[in-house]
Amino acid sequence: MIDNYIYDKKAELIIDGKTYTLPIVEGKEGEKAIDIRKLRSQTGYITIDSGFMNTGSCVSSITFLDGEKSILNYRGYAIEDLANNCSFVEVAYLLVHGSLPTQEQLSEFSQLLGGFALIHEDMIHFFDHFPPYAPPMSILSSMVNSLCNFYPEMSDNPGENIDMMAARLISKIRTIAAFSYKKSMGQPLVYPRHDYSYCANFLNMMFDSPVKPYVVNDAVVAALNKLLILHADHEQNCSTSTVRLVGSAKVNLYASISAGISALWGPLHGGANQAVIEMLEEIYENGGNYMKYIERAKNSKDPFRLVGFGHRVYKSHDPRSRIIKNACEQVLASMGFYSDPLLDIAREIEEVVLRDDYFVSRNLYPNVDFYSGIIYRAIGIPSNMFTVMFALGRLPGWIAHWKEMWDDPNWRIGRPRQIYIGPKRRPFVPVAERKAYPAQ
Ligand code: CMC
Repeated sequence: MIDNYIYDKKAELIIDGKTYTLPIVEGKEGEKAIDIRKLRSQTGYITIDSGFMNTGSCVSSITFLDGEKSILNYRGYAIEDLANNCSFVEVAYLLVHGSLPTQEQLSEFSQLLGGFALIHEDMIHFFDHFPPYAPPMSILSSMVNSLCNFYPEMSDNPGENIDMMAARLISKIRTIAAFSYKKSMGQPLVYPRHDYSYCANFLNMMFDSPVKPYVVNDAVVAALNKLLILHADHEQNCSTSTVRLVGSAKVNLYASISAGISALWGPLHGGANQAVIEMLEEIYENGGNYMKYIERAKNSKDPFRLVGFGHRVYKSHDPRSRIIKNACEQVLASMGFYSDPLLDIAREIEEVVLRDDYFVSRNLYPNVDFYSGIIYRAIGIPSNMFTVMFALGRLPGWIAHWKEMWDDPNWRIGRPRQIYIGPKRRPFVPVAERKAYPAQ
């Protein structure tokens, strides 16, 4: 597929006086890349790029983002249009299939989601054997991996079954997430209902109880749809790249997604939404002196970072954070919270940071995680479930990338190289003759 995007200009590389010509690839939005696929065979050199800051791992038609201009599009649609006009199910369909569904396609997809909502009863016993304080992300990753034992017929070739595979996983992950919460609370499980929409069903499974029936609040459902849409894809981020790398070894969809969930767990990635709310709570409990935290974040000798700020790709506003900030105010009002001390602290921190030279000069703006936790907290979702919510949202993107890679005729197993800096070859010493050396 890359060959279809070779540009007419070339790059030249001079090594030891010899000039090598390298093709240039140009994407639909004008992004350019030097094609180094033949670099090592032609020159004997590789490139080195820790953190893959300058490395394109694939061509993709799923998501476009421009971090300088604050643009994020899924399949060509602006994130603002999707977040304001679509349900999460429509956007999931868009990401996986490439186009927005017609009314008929949407009904069919929604019916599949409803039909697949149960998990095998034997899987429910698994929940009983995790320790009471097991992190929900660890439970989620284990349970998703286990799905391939219960539904093996769907685990390999997506082929024409992508509708079914995507619906099965998108539906079951929601049930697994809600069940893991109920188990952690020691409450009876609430089974999915066929007559509820995707988000209403999730909220009902989380919060309904035999002693206090859950009443669906449309504003909360709308906010949850928005949050899941905003998290649904973000091109080659750490977890999506993990799904692709694991999947590149021809690993089944469930195991690949389970690996992506583990990557998302990290506090520098999806785990940041939990870290933000914990930081805001800590500031509030310590008297609200947020300036102390801002000063700590600026001190190069202190490893503390202001969570919820900065992004590898956005060097301007994260467009998702603006939408979430507005949604935050609407949801809180609809739920009768006319003021929230954490929201007040968050707003004040943002205001100071956007004027502070340390943050301005490093292009550090609020990211998607800065305000999302305030909404989740208002809905009643505990902070250790925030990253699980991120995973529910990101799932359609992971599936779309896994499928795109699977369909790519140039698909090769992912296998980076390295520059070795360890000891040179040395003679073997039998154990009795070895001397202890200080640890290196
Ligand atoms: N607070 C204070 N300083 C920061 C922050 C921050 N949140 N983020 C970056 N910096 C500084 C960093 O110290 C460095 O300064 P200097 O040039 O003086 O050494 C400079 O900004 C560049 O930082 P970097 O670590 O090289 O940037 P990166 O692109 O490797 O990291 C990041 C991006 C998101 C990991 C980082 O900004 C960060 O740790 N942010 C806090 C965690 C967070 O909110 N993560 C959620 C990201 S969005 C959701 C997602 O992707 O899952």
